[in-house]
Amino acid sequence: MTAHSLSPDVLDALEGAVGRNGLTAEPAGMAKYLGDWAGDYRGGALAVLRPASVAEVQASMRLCGALGLGVIPQGGNTGLVSGAIDTNGAGMVVVSLERLNAIRQIDPENFTLQTDAGCVLQTIKDASEAQDCLFPLALGAQGSCQIGGNAASNAGGVNVLRYGMARDLILGLEVVLADGELWNGFSGLRKNNSGYDLKQLFIGSEGTLGIITGVEVKLFPKPARTETAYLGLASFEAAIALFNRARRDCCDLISAFEIIGSECIELARLIDPAVTEPVSAPVQVLIELSSGPTIDLNGVLAGFLGDAMKKGLVSDAVLATSGAQAKTFWAIREGLVEGQAKRGYHVRTDLSVRISDMPALIERARRFVALEHRGWIPLAYGHAGDGNIHFNVLPPLALGESEARSRGAEVTAGLYDIAVNLGGSISAEHGIGRSRRREFWDGLSPTHRRMVTALKTAFDPNGMMNPGCLLPSTETFS
Ligand code: FAD
Ligand code: LAC
Ligand code: ZN
Repeated sequence: MTAHSLSPDVLDALEGAVGRNGLTAEPAGMAKYLGDWAGDYRGGALAVLRPASVAEVQASMRLCGALGLGVIPQGGNTGLVSGAIDTNGAGMVVVSLERLNAIRQIDPENFTLQTDAGCVLQTIKDASEAQDCLFPLALGAQGSCQIGGNAASNAGGVNVLRYGMARDLILGLEVVLADGELWNGFSGLRKNNSGYDLKQLFIGSEGTLGIITGVEVKLFPKPARTETAYLGLASFEAAIALFNRARRDCCDLISAFEIIGSECIELARLIDPAVTEPVSAPVQVLIELSSGPTIDLNGVLAGFLGDAMKKGLVSDAVLATSGAQAKTFWAIREGLVEGQAKRGYHVRTDLSVRISDMPALIERARRFVALEHRGWIPLAYGHAGDGNIHFNVLPPLALGESEARSRGAEVTAGLYDIAVNLGGSISAEHGIGRSRRREFWDGLSPTHRRMVTALKTAFDPNGMMNPGCLLPSTETFS
């Protein structure tokens, strides 16, 4: 279905809800809302609405409900599972939050910040820092993703092991429900043990229960000191042993512990050919410690690493001597993700297992690819401190894209089986969206399915919220 399926009367009504600047129904204008960051998915929409106020979001929902139009809430469109793109071509309306983007209030005394949901994560981080505070959610897409999208997808990132996922960082939400009613769940309270914690239902709901219009987050003191080191290790087993040691020796001072298989470095070089490996080793770790001003953080990290080298856990280590050098370490971590997108279609996973099972996961996954998908190139990297590995696989360059995609589906299925057999999850932090919907649903018990269905029905009785995302398809909105 194309934009022209909406009659002039309907387009006029939509314009009435969001104003002339808030409606886009021409294919060229809609294009950027209909494709994902990696170029993996393309969808369609009848129109894109860009409300500039909460009242306009409410008006949009009421109108879409009355017209029987499905609604896809969209933030920065950086999600990796096609949650904000209608790949099934059911013909829905995208509601982008990008114009609802003001920070409403920062309260450094209470360490809280209230913002419109469309505010870009980096803007929130910068505003917090200006008040000597930290908002610790940190991910490669932070320059584009929005806090509403982070809440709706329960984003993770590189600081989860210290500060938790979005779910742990959110104090309150403001939500427009499917019928257009507004729920204000802001309280500013750290402790509020009164009944069901409704905000947690919307966190991770991927736009299927309502549109988040406002988010209240926890802030933390901005660390006065940060120490970063790039380490070389012989194996993933050694990396996990090192992480266990670090948890005990450095306690909660660890703010990141990222693992990078050396095969990923070449991908970072696709983004910056000048990238050099700080260490030469098959497994590499980026560790970061941060603290207030009174702790000898450099001494803690140097002592810990000296001991780890004596024990043979670490073969090589470079401790950053400046913030600029630490940035070059992080550029490798970010570049390897962008490099994969630049190379083209690839199998992308987001697996988690118990931390101690990570070496087994990687070993089994590598063996599976080597035996059953010869010529495909496995990459392993991710948030080792959280048991979360992105085990991605690049198709041979000679393979055409359509064959790569169909073989890629087999590779993905095999990798999911390996994670599930280890008691793990097929979605540690990216969510379910449309791309993992079947596997998610197949893995639920009947009781779990019944509860999920009851929740969806209670909040969205007509199934207008993001049909086809997360749950079995209810594409009746065409
Ligand atoms: P979108 O992509 O626009 O939407 C995501 C989902 O949320 C969709 O289902 C959408 O319908 C829903 N949604 C969006 N806004 C709202 C709203 N206001 N109300 C209701 N529903 C809404 N993710 C991680 O967890 N950890 C990482 O380390 C990480 N790194 C990344 C690195 C790169 C380079 C990229 C491109 C992505 C990365 N991601 C990561 C994935 C992505 O950035 C996150 O999922 C992010 O939270 C999505 O936010 P967004 O605003 O772009 O949401
Ligand atoms: C990362 C994203 C892809 O960890 O989750 O870089
Ligand atoms: Zn990740």
